Amino acid sequence: MTEWFDNEHPSLRRCWHPIGEVSEFDGVGPHLVRLVGAYFALWKASDGWSLLPDQCPHRLAPLTQGTVTDGVLRCAYHGWCFSGEGTCVEIPALENATSSIPPTAHLSGAQVEEHYGLLWVALEDPIAPLPAISDWGSDAFGLVRLPYQTWNAGAAQMTDNFLDVGHFPFTHTATIGDADDRVVHDYELSRDGWTFSAHHEHSAKVLDGSGRLEKRTMDFVCFAPHHVSLRLGYEDDTILLLFFHQPIDRETTRVFVIQMAESLAKDPGLGPDTIAFQMAVGKEDRDLLETLRTKGVPLTPGVEANTRADRITVELRRVLSDLASAARTRPLTGLVE
Ligand code: FES
Ligand SMILES: [Fe+2]
Repeated sequence: MTEWFDNEHPSLRRCWHPIGEVSEFDGVGPHLVRLVGAYFALWKASDGWSLLPDQCPHRLAPLTQGTVTDGVLRCAYHGWCFSGEGTCVEIPALENATSSIPPTAHLSGAQVEEHYGLLWVALEDPIAPLPAISDWGSDAFGLVRLPYQTWNAGAAQMTDNFLDVGHFPFTHTATIGDADDRVVHDYELSRDGWTFSAHHEHSAKVLDGSGRLEKRTMDFVCFAPHHVSLRLGYEDDTILLLFFHQPIDRETTRVFVIQMAESLAKDPGLGPDTIAFQMAVGKEDRDLLETLRTKGVPLTPGVEANTRADRITVELRRVLSDLASAARTRPLTGLVE
C-alpha cells in the first residue's frame, strides 16, 4: 500500500508550523486555529501564548467559545478553567474542586514561539528544529511580506514545487522561465540532519520585467518538514525568499512568503512591484499544483518516476520518510483531535 505524506501525516505533530502573522491575533483570544486537520484554541495565558485543543474534555464544547479571565481560559458551557499548559484548575460545579479534578480533565498544551514575525507551534515535542535563517535581521536586506495565500494543495507538494529546478521553462512562461534553458545540469546537494541544501546555476529572466536574461545562482535550504529558504544570486542583487507552510487540513495549506533583498534595503520603494512580481510567479505554480488530484507526496518508491534531474526533490522524500520513521519509533501521546 502506498504511504503518503500529506497535511495530516502523524509526524507533523512533532514539527514546527507557523499558524499566522503575530499581527493577526489581537487581544487575549481565544482565536480559532486550524492545523493538521484539527482545531485549536490560541489564547494569552498569564505567562504567554497558549495553544490547546479546541475541545473541552468535559462535554466537548469548543474552547474558542470560552473567555479568557485572570490568565485562564474558561469554557462557555459549565465554566471549567484551564491554565496555559492545559491543566484544569477549576470545576465550578464541585465544592472542593482542586482535590476532585480527575486526570481526564486535563489537556496537553502545545509549544508556542514567535519567530520571523509569525507564531510557530509544535503540538508535541518536536523532532526537527525550527528553521534557522542566518540572515534574518541583517541590515544588508530590506524585507517585504507577500499577502498570505491558502492553496488547495499539500504543504509537501508546495515545498516539492518550490525546490523543483526543472519546471521553470514550462510553468513560468510569463515570468522567470527561459524556454531555451531546459536542461538541468548537475548540482550540489548535501544533507545535514533535518536540513538539506542544494546549489544550482541557470539563466533566468531579470526580475525587472524586461525579459533580459542573466545567469543566476540558486541556493536552496529545506528545513523539515516543509519550509524552504531560497537565496538567488544575481549580478547586482541578492534575494532571499522564505516559504513557511501551515498545513491546515488534508487538502489545504497556507503559505507565508517573505522576501528579503539587498535592492529592497537600498530602495524600499521597490516593495509593491516586488510583491506583484512574486505573486505572479506564485500564481503560475498555484494554477498547476491545484490541478493535481493527489494532495500529498508518496513515500513509497515506484509510485513516481524520478531522474537525476530530480535529486533535490527526491531528497525531500528521503527527509519526509525519515521523519515518518522517527515519529513511529517515538509514538505520539496526548492531544485530542
Ligand atoms: S463542556 Fe466545557 S465545562 Fe462542560
Ligand atoms: Fe515555480
